[in-house]
Amino acid sequence: MLYSDKVMDHFNNPRNVGVIEDADGVGEVGNPVCGDVMKITIKVDAADRIDDIKFQTLGCGAAIATSSIVTEMARGMTLDDAVSISKQQVADELGGLPPAKMHCSVLATDGLKVAVDDFLVKNGRDPIAGPIKSSDPNFDPHGDEDD
Ligand code: FES
Repeated sequence: MLYSDKVMDHFNNPRNVGVIEDADGVGEVGNPVCGDVMKITIKVDAADRIDDIKFQTLGCGAAIATSSIVTEMARGMTLDDAVSISKQQVADELGGLPPAKMHCSVLATDGLKVAVDDFLVKNGRDPIAGPIKSSDPNFDPHGDEDD
């Protein structure tokens, strides 16, 4: 299985690792297929943009690389744009992922969605990300859905 140079770079030198202690939103998700887990913490500014973001992932190399790139992609984004990041966009940003590893990128996009909705609900607002696919018992991580 071949990984792109960018995947290897983010795996070997993951960006934005850690936990924001006074986070505005927290997202914790698990991959039902492999049991890997990740946690994303975010700070949100007054304009609803992601001001700071950190992650912790206990998982495979692809899960770590996709988590790392998602934090770079989401920083500075509006909440609406952040929850719209698809697993395909994550894979493209990394120069591609092997088909068998595409499901790993769902962990990162779902973790971000949960963190955004956590922030909104804590502030008395309606969630915007909706149901998280990886928490659906019928979710097929090897399916070809868009996000
Ligand atoms: S094998 Fe578990 S997220 Fe990649």
